[in-house]
Amino acid sequence: MTTPEPADRVLARASLADGDPTAWFDQLYTAAARGEAEVPWTRGEPNADLAAWVRPGGGRRALVVGSALGDDPELLSAHGWAVTGFDVAPTAVAAAKSRFPDSTVDYVVADLLNPPGEWTHAFDLVVEIINIQAMPRDYRPAALKSLASFLAPGGTAIVCEVAEENMDMANWQSPPWPFSRAEVESVAQDGVRLVSLDTVREGTRYWATFTR
Ligand SMILES: C[S@@+](CC[C@H](N)C(=O)[O-])C[C@H]1O[C@@H](n2cnc3c(N)ncnc32)[C@H](O)[C@@H]1O
Repeated sequence: MTTPEPADRVLARASLADGDPTAWFDQLYTAAARGEAEVPWTRGEPNADLAAWVRPGGGRRALVVGSALGDDPELLSAHGWAVTGFDVAPTAVAAAKSRFPDSTVDYVVADLLNPPGEWTHAFDLVVEIINIQAMPRDYRPAALKSLASFLAPGGTAIVCEVAEENMDMANWQSPPWPFSRAEVESVAQDGVRLVSLDTVREGTRYWATFTR
């Protein structure tokens, strides 16, 4: 007997075949809300690497890309950041609001590929953890351009993606589409510069920081 293919793979394939890189995310969250699918990246707790990194926000503004069910925005909020979390999937944004009804996080439906203009240079902290790699490579230059644009002067951007150099790419099934070091470094554009580039999780993910 063959094991059925997970819902995320089935939905992603159909969405990508339709030329839509992101429609499947909301479909997956919707199916999961009905108990018909699992969202593979859902942990019910903040990202461990972000929890190890986090420092006091002192009321400064943070933007969490791909805020999913809200765990990472809530972590930053608890450390004093004034947080905006955005996701392209309305169901994820609604679920985050419902999980954290007393939250001070501003949860917003938005697309990294077409973000609100008022976010340009507006955030002292920008957190991008394994979202851009979830879109096909063709969308990467536009996504990285948006990401760089959010960072305010003197701020910090964190970028974490799966590290291609340590993956068995010959047998890899996308999504996600892992990053090369050069691609991570290319966040350094339009006045943004690289501060550090390390790996975490035994070399499987890059963890890079940038400033402007
Ligand atoms: C692989 S999940 C990662 C979620 C979270 N960052 C984490 O570390 O668990 C990718 C998330 O990014 C969202 N997403 C994908 N493409 C996006 C886009 N273009 N703009 C905003 N959010 C996007 C998806 O809906 C999903 O919640």
